[in-house]
Parts: sequence; structure tokens; C-alpha cells
Amino acid sequence: MRQKIVAGNWKMNNDLAQTEDLLGQIKNQWQEKEGVRVIVAPAFTNLHHAFESLRKYSIDVAAQNMNENSEGAYTGEVSARMLTSIGIKTVIIGHSERRAIFKETDEVLAKKVNAALENDMEVIFCCGEELSERMGERHFEVVKSQLEKGLFQVSEENWKKVVIAYEPVWAIGTGETASPEQAQEMHAFIRKTIAEKFGQTLANEVAILYGGSVKPENAQEIFAKEDVDGGLIGGASLKAPDFLAIVNAF
Ligand code: G3P
Repeated sequence: MRQKIVAGNWKMNNDLAQTEDLLGQIKNQWQEKEGVRVIVAPAFTNLHHAFESLRKYSIDVAAQNMNENSEGAYTGEVSARMLTSIGIKTVIIGHSERRAIFKETDEVLAKKVNAALENDMEVIFCCGEELSERMGERHFEVVKSQLEKGLFQVSEENWKKVVIAYEPVWAIGTGETASPEQAQEMHAFIRKTIAEKFGQTLANEVAILYGGSVKPENAQEIFAKEDVDGGLIGGASLKAPDFLAIVNAF
């Protein structure tokens, strides 16, 4: 039975006081949701605080990124071991903002995936097309290429530590959510693409999250789709009531 996951990607938001305030609200309103795994992904500077603050709660803490190298002259960067040394065992890799703004290539992302898995971390691997690619009906081709170049080097054993997040770029932060049917169509395609390479049994076990303007109002319909196993939430994860409403949308 594959996992159901709701992960909050806080992006570059919340200083230490704001992090503690948001975590405090989440903890005060927290009620276990049977069968749903919850993750929050604060900025690097707040990861250790968040990990310690949530020790007594079944809420995991993830990093939003990491460097593909183990150590060395990479000013400003953070390695997998630096993350695992403070208890962080999950990392988001390949978010569209990393790809677009920071020019992270498929090749670099594959190295990041390998480095995370070599350090026994879990990877939330992001994929998704730009609006122009969807308008040009190239969205399946684009997503398949992202998977093949970023993930298909992963061993069958290590796929147990891979979660995929499909985030159509045109839906991120825009309020323009993909329809539940659009989400299901792409998620089913992603699962089929994995099955063609690694077999249906493995593909059926991979959690595929949807990201892109998920809100309390639309989460339930999206999460009800057969191949949608949860969400990677941006803006709504910064408001405790909204984030927890999305967690309870299953
Ligand atoms: O990683 C999740 C994020 O990209 C989605 O953002 O604000 O559209 O929920 P948002």
C-alpha cells in the first residue's frame, strides 16, 4: 500500500520567530490523520529548530534542496550529510524554481538524487511542464524526459526512498490549479512510465504527489483521484488551518 503524503514546501518564507509561531499553531491544532504522512519543509536556517520542535509529533521535516557534492569549496551550499547530521532524512530535489531560477539541469539533479540516496535520504523528486509546453501538447514528453534523466538511474532497491511530485509550473503560485482530471492523467502517465522501465509492482508503490495551488477547497477532489497520493503544498502550507485542512482532505 503506497503512502499518502501531504508535504508543506515553505520556500523562502519565515524567519526563526515566524517558524516557531507557525509550528506552534500546527502543534496546537494537530490531530493525527490515520494513514496520512505529514511533512514540513522550512528553509535551511530553520531545519534544526523545526526538527527539535516537532520531535514529539508525527510530522517529518524535509529540506528544500541540497548540493550534489559531499563537501568542499561550494560557498553557501549544504550537503546531504549536513542535513542528516541534524536529523533531516528527506529532501526535495528538482523543484521547478530550482530548475528555472537556479538553472539546475537534469544532469545535476540526477547527481543530487544519487547523493541523497547514498546518504540514505528519501527524495521528493519534482517534475512538471511549463505553460508553453502544455499549450504545445509537449507536457508528457517533458515530464517523461525529466523522469528518465533525473530518476531512472536509481536502483530498484532505492526506489523505496523515492517520492515524486508532479507540479505543473503554470499552476504554482498562480491560483490556476490543474483540474483533478488533468492531475490524474499526468499521474497515471508518470506511473505508466515508471512501470515500463521498472515493472508495475514497483510503479504501484511509488507515491506521486500533486503540487500547484492546492487549497482546502480543491484538495479533496484532487486527492480522490486514483493515482494522486497527496500533495506538495506551497502557499497554503504557510497558514496552519489551511495546511491542516488539506491534510484532512483525504
Ligand atoms: O512545492 C510546492 C509549490 O511549488 C506549490 O506552490 O503555492 O501553488 O501551492 P503553491
